[in-house]
Amino acid sequence: MKFFVDSADVGEIRSLAEAGLVDGVTTNPSLIAKSGRPMASVIAEICAITPGPVSAEVTALEFEGMLAEGRHLRRIAPNVAVKVPLTEAGLRACRALTEEGAMVNVTLCFSPAQALLAAKAGASFISPFVGRLDDIATDGMQLIADIVAIYRNYPQYRTEVLVASVRHPMHLVQAAKIGAHVATLPASVIRSLLRHPLTDRGLEAFLTDWKKTGQSIL
Ligand code: E4P
Repeated sequence: MKFFVDSADVGEIRSLAEAGLVDGVTTNPSLIAKSGRPMASVIAEICAITPGPVSAEVTALEFEGMLAEGRHLRRIAPNVAVKVPLTEAGLRACRALTEEGAMVNVTLCFSPAQALLAAKAGASFISPFVGRLDDIATDGMQLIADIVAIYRNYPQYRTEVLVASVRHPMHLVQAAKIGAHVATLPASVIRSLLRHPLTDRGLEAFLTDWKKTGQSIL
């Protein structure tokens, strides 16, 4: 399973990349706004940190505007994946940009039928939002299971299921059990995957005992 970082914080992404935990990055207009920096320079810096796909989202709502913005974003770096919303214009832009050789991530997916449309439009990634569904008392993980099952029935679709709006480690574990290809995770969730109190306690005990031996390895 690939791990993308859901962030536009260059420092945070760099430190996770140094730990070997980054296969790609997703951004959205809210994350760019949070960074307080110009989108083009943030995306260029992130693309230089990881060779994996870096999603940069269009903000136009109509087809021609999305196409122009998508082409512009692609020129920033070869590993930019153009992110388009799951609307009629977005799917049309997805098809056109894909035919031009772009990677396209179709975002704001909340139903299996929407995911099927994105695959038919040739998307490289579909981004179903699990946390936002859970927030409205709907089972976000059931959506992932449904999409993975549907895509398995049609191997001609190459679209990867990119689990988005991940809020906690169990979202990731459940998505991995279902067989989703990718999860995009806030840095805080990636770091919380590492932590376990028994790991900390065990390490402390080993080091206390080691100290008593008076030995050193080097
Ligand atoms: C990623 O592509 C999405 O934009 C992101 O995961 C949304 O997460 P949120 O629901 O926590 O804002």
